[in-house]
Amino acid sequence: MYPTKIAEGIYDVGVNDWNIRDFHGYLTPTGTTYNSFLIIDEKIALIDTVKKEFSNQLIKNITDIVPLEKIDYVISNHTEMDHSGGLPAIMHRVGKDKPLYCSKMGQKNLAMHYRNDWNYHAVENGEELDLGKRQLVFLEARMLHWPDSMLTYEKKDKILFSSDAFGQHYAGFEKFDDQLDREILLHHSKKYFANIVLLYAGQVQKLLKTVNDMGLTFNMICPDHGMIWRENPNLIIDAYDKWSQPIFSKKAVVVYDTMWQSTKMMAEQICEGIVAEGVNVRPMNIRTNHRSDIMTELLEASAIVVGSPTLNNNVYPTVSDFLTYMKGLRPQNKLAACFGSYGWNGASIKILNSELASMKFNMIDNTGLKIQYVPDKKGLNACFEYGQTIGKAICNRMNN
Ligand code: FEO
Repeated sequence: MYPTKIAEGIYDVGVNDWNIRDFHGYLTPTGTTYNSFLIIDEKIALIDTVKKEFSNQLIKNITDIVPLEKIDYVISNHTEMDHSGGLPAIMHRVGKDKPLYCSKMGQKNLAMHYRNDWNYHAVENGEELDLGKRQLVFLEARMLHWPDSMLTYEKKDKILFSSDAFGQHYAGFEKFDDQLDREILLHHSKKYFANIVLLYAGQVQKLLKTVNDMGLTFNMICPDHGMIWRENPNLIIDAYDKWSQPIFSKKAVVVYDTMWQSTKMMAEQICEGIVAEGVNVRPMNIRTNHRSDIMTELLEASAIVVGSPTLNNNVYPTVSDFLTYMKGLRPQNKLAACFGSYGWNGASIKILNSELASMKFNMIDNTGLKIQYVPDKKGLNACFEYGQTIGKAICNRMNN
């Protein structure tokens, strides 16, 4: 499969990581890819590398096309080690005197990762590199998603080498968007956005504005993970535009764990109450739904409802794990509420309220709903009514 020709003289020489299942806390059921791009022109350039343990495969893929010492420029769009881990092996063979193009922050960050004396060329935003028939333009993409992030645009065929942006953690023998079922492709793109890009939604809007202001159009978008967008690059541009703005939908996600089934009983009745108001709801037990899949469901929902039993004057450990993960991704413009069962101290509800408020969710109330031990009929009715309150709040938000 590799190397894969993607345009005249341009190849993806990256690798598939079939076996990775946890990408810093993100469940990757099919694995992922580390894409790397080789441009053969009067001058030869390599854009990004792969994780260190795949360096030999990258070297073989490049050598199938051109000897490594023929490479004139190495370009590092991003320092994170899934894309720079192969640099020491590559620079050793290409020749450490060859220019290594990166952003100013890239130079600093690469130096702190690899402690080397490579021949850095820190680019200015908009700087061009002439390869002969093709010219590359470097576009600053600071905090999308690291301080060093930049993108590389090839002018002749209008190809954007987009680093982490517009990618998916998906490994397959397909290489292009038109080779994968669109629903599957969009699902993986959405999950990637919800778990990698969400915190940087503002930077996405800034990038889209820059692209618009510069009048750039793309025939192809080549991210460093997953499929290359060649049939419909605008599909992912439009999706990023949508996902990086406030989303108003008649949908809630109810996330919970349970100790003796009481919080589960509460969750189910709350869901019934939400549905009774004509709002779609997805119940997600944290034991059976990975935190990264919960974030994917939440991306297009208007509200999150979190449930936890009280354990040792605290929230359940699994709920705490999820809250920590969600806090880092900072979802915006959503409603929130909480609930849970308790024995003699309802501390979990207080903690959930405070945590959700600190994450800047718009709290539906400041109390939540707690029930001692096992809910009886009256308690279950209260849960149903609480679900209705949540459903009504979502509908009101849609109407305002
Ligand atoms: Fe795919 Fe930010 O690394």
